[in-house]
Amino acid sequence: MNTKLKLHIRTFGCQMNFYDSDVALGALENAGFEIIKETAHPYEDSDVFILNTCSVREHAETRVYGHLYELRDFKAEKKPDLIVGLMGCMAEEHKEKLFKKFPHLDFLCGTRNIKELPEIVETVRKTRQQTARIKKEGLGIEYSELTKYGNGINAWLPIMTGCNKVCTYCIVPTTRGPEVSMPAREVYKEASRLAEQGYKQITLLGQNVNSYGKDLPGNPSFPELLRMLDEIEGLELISFTTSHPEDATEELFLAMRDSKKVSRRFHLPLQSGSDAVLKRMKRLHRYAEFKAKVDRFRELVPDISLTTDIIVGFCGETEEDFEATKRAIKEIEFDGAYIFQYSPRPATPAYKIKDDVPKEVKNRRNVELLAIQDAITKKHYEKLIGSSAEVLVDHISRKDEHQMIGQTRHERHVVFGGTSQLSGTTQTIQIKSVRNKTLLGELVSAAQ
Ligand code: 5AD
Ligand code: SF4
Repeated sequence: MNTKLKLHIRTFGCQMNFYDSDVALGALENAGFEIIKETAHPYEDSDVFILNTCSVREHAETRVYGHLYELRDFKAEKKPDLIVGLMGCMAEEHKEKLFKKFPHLDFLCGTRNIKELPEIVETVRKTRQQTARIKKEGLGIEYSELTKYGNGINAWLPIMTGCNKVCTYCIVPTTRGPEVSMPAREVYKEASRLAEQGYKQITLLGQNVNSYGKDLPGNPSFPELLRMLDEIEGLELISFTTSHPEDATEELFLAMRDSKKVSRRFHLPLQSGSDAVLKRMKRLHRYAEFKAKVDRFRELVPDISLTTDIIVGFCGETEEDFEATKRAIKEIEFDGAYIFQYSPRPATPAYKIKDDVPKEVKNRRNVELLAIQDAITKKHYEKLIGSSAEVLVDHISRKDEHQMIGQTRHERHVVFGGTSQLSGTTQTIQIKSVRNKTLLGELVSAAQ
């Protein structure tokens, strides 16, 4: 390529998507594209504009459609040569139907075709034909020397893709396919490489990391993987997301308890406190089993910080069902919860069940639950005032250049007065106060 084509990717959705965008940018930069990172005018400033998309809720798709309509007008009125591409979960879900709806969309790239992006763009440039590459099998992970892994001290590290569960509301099995794991020695090698590069934290990614390895020879388990990674020198914090309660076992709790570096935060989506709703969701666990697991986990790792996901307004959710969720939230006292309003997704099993909870009711339940959870979160955070915590220091606060931001082993964010020289080190911070979900503290002394 003589003059470098300018390229921008706009990313929606989960961390896996952000990782994928990173891999895509690395591959495209290597192929000679000029990457436009941050810009207020992405359409004007790029020759190739890519949307990396999410399908998990309707809202995520609506935002992408908004971009596509804008781009249709922008191309027609201002820049007919702009190449517009769409990658990620919406490409997997809607495939070539998107070409019919959006004739100005130039290419589609599936979640397992990311490395082919330079070739896809080149094909579009040469032929000016709408081009789709969507592979149906294989591992959707590329460990790439080119990847910059975002910024700061944390690197994402996908260890598996896809999901074999059948939760009836969920689009992921459609968009990311069945579970495929990266061999343990590859994960270990990559984690070691990241540590050598100076990363202090790795976040293991997968739609259900607890079923890691079931598809690999010898069935290495996720707890075994954690024990291996815990030994890597240079790493300070090993986080992971996300877990299905069915596969969260005592073996995992023990590996977490015994580890030196594995995060003390555990995200375990409950989804609902009502067994009738859990059954309709095909969640496999029932509330009593979930609660028993939480109790056992807390027995083994008393200071574990538990967080969860809840869906309100799933098909047929009655006031009684909702009350059960409220009771569950109060009984378990999670450290935090993400609360979502049910959004019917075509191509999921629940799409056939009537979405009979009105929007206002979903809204009301959402607000009510959030208020209960916020009070619990506040109480938990306020208990920390006066204590001190080992904080892995990350970056300068955007609001105040004299403040640094870091996180505790429980992945709680801490802000304190300090300089960027502390970035990447672990410091003891005394917690003085709480603002929203951030702890405000003061530097005590450098930890060993
Ligand atoms: N509607 C609303 N929330 C959903 N989630 C997944 N699918 C849907 C849907 N159709 C939520 C679940 C999941 C989180 C990532 O997103 O709570 O744990
Ligand atoms: Fe969205 Fe799920 Fe796809 Fe991530 S895997 S981008 S959350 S649909």
